[in-house]
Amino acid sequence: MSKKVQMPSENREISKTPGHWVLAQLGKRVLRPGGKELTQKMLAGLNITSTDSVVEFAPGMGYTARLCLQQSPKHYTAIEQNEQAAEIVRSYLDGINQQCQIGNAQNTGLESNTASVVYGEAMLTMQSDARKSEIIAEAARILSAGGRYGIHELCVTPDEIDDTKKRTIQKEITETIQHPAKPITPQEWKQLMENNGFEIEYEAVSPMHLLEPKRMIDDEGLLGFLTIAKNILTKPAARKRVLGMRRVFRKHHTNLSAITLVAKKKETNDV
Ligand SMILES: C[S@@+](CC[C@H](N)C(=O)[O-])C[C@H]1O[C@@H](n2cnc3c(N)ncnc32)[C@H](O)[C@@H]1O
Repeated sequence: MSKKVQMPSENREISKTPGHWVLAQLGKRVLRPGGKELTQKMLAGLNITSTDSVVEFAPGMGYTARLCLQQSPKHYTAIEQNEQAAEIVRSYLDGINQQCQIGNAQNTGLESNTASVVYGEAMLTMQSDARKSEIIAEAARILSAGGRYGIHELCVTPDEIDDTKKRTIQKEITETIQHPAKPITPQEWKQLMENNGFEIEYEAVSPMHLLEPKRMIDDEGLLGFLTIAKNILTKPAARKRVLGMRRVFRKHHTNLSAITLVAKKKETNDV
């Protein structure tokens, strides 16, 4: 990117800025809970090739978009609700078969049964139960039968977790990231997919280490990590936010994980 691009939520007071945009402003590009490693597992499960028509929900800073484009899909369409993020993603696109539209994943306006792959990361967790279902149903609508859908989200564990504990975790994450967040259990994620006509084909989990130094170096590279670290040290308001988020993630580390699921749209859509 040559010209200075405006970052999402750049003009908002930092204490009220959603956590993912605080991290993006500090230089973080990987904004999903399982990092690059779980993204790569999701992409391996999706097995994108040059014959695929791919739709990405909520590409954010375009990190996975670039990995996907390396596979030269026939079509790549992203649906992103944030204008600045969409502008950043567009800077990676090339040609009429690659687009990023500003819109909502629950109502993409895309034609039914036309995509062979849909994926979205760290975007369902922040939705209500009803909206999660609407987005998954929209993925099912735009996919052709047999199409693959990949998600990469936050989950609370174990499946049998006490309900009060689960709600406490959801509440504390919501408060610290300054954005609604409702992570659910692995079983609940799978159930939501199955309820919307998908068959789970692949599942992987990893620790929620989004803000741990080792994961940050793995995700952003040493130089990227040092840039973020310098920004954290020199921006006290943002530092407070990052440390606040990390405190909550650490507090609940035994009950928080990242999950990726890759599922296939059933041949007969008998949901
Ligand atoms: C935590 S960021 C994740 C970005 C990127 N997927 C990643 O993993 O690095 C959440 C993203 O979801 C987008 N988003 C949230 N709800 C959305 C919706 N209903 N439709 C489209 N985009 C949405 C936000 O604008 C933001 O880019």
